[in-house]
Amino acid sequence: MEALSRLLRALRQRLWSGPGAPWPRPPARGCSGGSDYRELCARAAREPGPFWGALARQTLLWDTPHHTDCEGDFARGRVRWFLGGRLNVAANCLDRHAQHSPNRVALIWEKDEPGTEERVTYRELLEMTCRLANTLKKNGIKKGDRVAIYMPVCPLAVAAMLACARIGAVHTVVFAGFSGESLAGRISDAECKAVITCNQGVRGGRVIELKKTVDEAVENCPSVKCVFVAQRTANKVHMGSRDILLEEEMAKEASVCPPEIMDSEDMLFMLYTSGSTGKPKGIVHSQAGYLLYVALTHKHVFDYKQGDVFGCVADIGWITGHSYIVYGPLCNGGTTVLFESTPIYPDPGRYWETVQRLRINQFYCAPTALRLLLKHGDEYVKKYDRSSLTALGSVGEPINREAWQWFYSVVGEERCTLVDTWWQTETGGICVAPRPSEKGAEIVPAIAMRPFYGITPVLMDEKGKVIEDNNVSGALCIAQPWPGMARTIYGDHQRFIEAYFKTYPGYYFTGDGAYRTEEGYYQITGRMDDVLNISGHRLGTAEIEDAMDEHPAVPETAVVGYPHDIKGEGAFAFIVLRDDTAHPEIVSKEVKAIVASKIAKYAVPDHILVVKRLPKTRSGKIMRRLLRGIVTGNICDLGDITTLDDPSVITEILDTYEKYKAQHPTL
Ligand code: WTA
Repeated sequence: MEALSRLLRALRQRLWSGPGAPWPRPPARGCSGGSDYRELCARAAREPGPFWGALARQTLLWDTPHHTDCEGDFARGRVRWFLGGRLNVAANCLDRHAQHSPNRVALIWEKDEPGTEERVTYRELLEMTCRLANTLKKNGIKKGDRVAIYMPVCPLAVAAMLACARIGAVHTVVFAGFSGESLAGRISDAECKAVITCNQGVRGGRVIELKKTVDEAVENCPSVKCVFVAQRTANKVHMGSRDILLEEEMAKEASVCPPEIMDSEDMLFMLYTSGSTGKPKGIVHSQAGYLLYVALTHKHVFDYKQGDVFGCVADIGWITGHSYIVYGPLCNGGTTVLFESTPIYPDPGRYWETVQRLRINQFYCAPTALRLLLKHGDEYVKKYDRSSLTALGSVGEPINREAWQWFYSVVGEERCTLVDTWWQTETGGICVAPRPSEKGAEIVPAIAMRPFYGITPVLMDEKGKVIEDNNVSGALCIAQPWPGMARTIYGDHQRFIEAYFKTYPGYYFTGDGAYRTEEGYYQITGRMDDVLNISGHRLGTAEIEDAMDEHPAVPETAVVGYPHDIKGEGAFAFIVLRDDTAHPEIVSKEVKAIVASKIAKYAVPDHILVVKRLPKTRSGKIMRRLLRGIVTGNICDLGDITTLDDPSVITEILDTYEKYKAQHPTL
């Protein structure tokens, strides 16, 4: 209670300046950041500690202010921000706004059926969060415990995240499209004590059996003591001994719950993401640095103003949902849309009908959806009023020129700022985007362009040396720590160091390649490792191969990416059969089913080609580079093949591929 009254005291004394004015001069509309972009960038690079330290004091509501801005470096792979500082993230996102503007709308839940949206005010969201927090506490969840959230996009999912933050528990949201086995893997790795889910989900008019999937998942997860089940539909589902009806329990609880005061560096959440090797890794984000970074990027990249309706149509199961549906907008006291449906339900006009009905000001989506929608023609866009829009954003994968132009011209009527934002689960928030910038500065189509304040991108050459010139490509690294960056991989700090800080000692390596233009702008060229980006979702080729290898008739597999019209990238699998008697078509079908059940439907390869053998080095390593060359049509440029065990394998696979291609003209 003492902590709560201290927080309230701080609120009354208005020790925080609110989300209004973290920068020295308020930016002009349409060009966030104002004319001092260069100066702020220079200051942030020169003195990152004091730069972010001052912003942290101004932007966030603290129980105890921090005494040390930043500690650690990339050389050791350990960085900590705002040491000595104590705060509660949920109090920052809810209490301070609920106190001043209780009736301001925090969430607009755009439910699957158009026209059935529901609004949740800050007071209501605070109350919902407190009741949920008290329910967790009553069931034995304490500070530091991990809680899995497997829910569709809905207010209770946001309340669940914030309830964890309120009591100091660590949430791990698992995208509700992942299979039971994927969910189980994450629950086991994180040793979650509880799971929060819904009886069913509804998406694109279809019912999704969420509780059933959770039942399958927790069967082999002894750490799970209870499963909280919210009711998204009126249908009854099986309830077992550890299952608890969430809303019923919440109704019995008090609507007030004192926030647990956390250290800046305590864990806020973890989110599993794919790497180039092994199982998905639990990327850990901490409290203060993450919150500060997402609030500031949300405000300055999109030029978000009080009263705007922010429409990020991602799923909360990905980092985009965490940072720009939940934490960034709510920390800024904004109104944020929760989009439960799909871009084509009930028809391909859904996004723009939603923009018109909810009067959305900033609209943030993935290029894969744009590529799909532009194929349906402009009429679906033009019949709706989009005059509320001021900014458009793109995220998750490279945006091709055609999609950029369509978004800018047709959707945005050439009057909205279009920001192509580059970032990663690991970076916490947007790192490179056209805005903020100097006033009136140009935007180059389909280029992410400028670093955010305090982000210091560098390109590395093949020898690991920093490239100083412009007009060059290299491995994209970041030279200095920033508050929003991930702190570790849950339970495996060594893997964190190896994945991000070993390749280029002293630098954070993103895994992406980039091109720096003549003017010094950054264009992301794509992953340099064995990570695929399918419809903006990350997937390791090794993950898919591991799943396919489970088929008893398939001793060897190799997965590579190939360009896909809509998805950006698709998975192409090569498999070898154990013996000639196995029927290729049946095996392919079974392999696809295995991938869907072990990972998720979107991970299923579009194509599976049976080959006699795979190209290998003399030491037995599969040369995926050659397979990629074949499916991307770059056979003239296969590079060094001197290490190949038997070069005739290339013509052999190429022949098989050509025959397959003749039967699949879309390839
Ligand atoms: C890719 C998503 C090009 C990139 C926020 C990165 C992009 C990976 C862009 C991270 C962009 C993200 N242009 N590529 N604007 N944004 N990427 O962790 O390869 O799901 O490394 O985070 O997506 O994916 P993640």
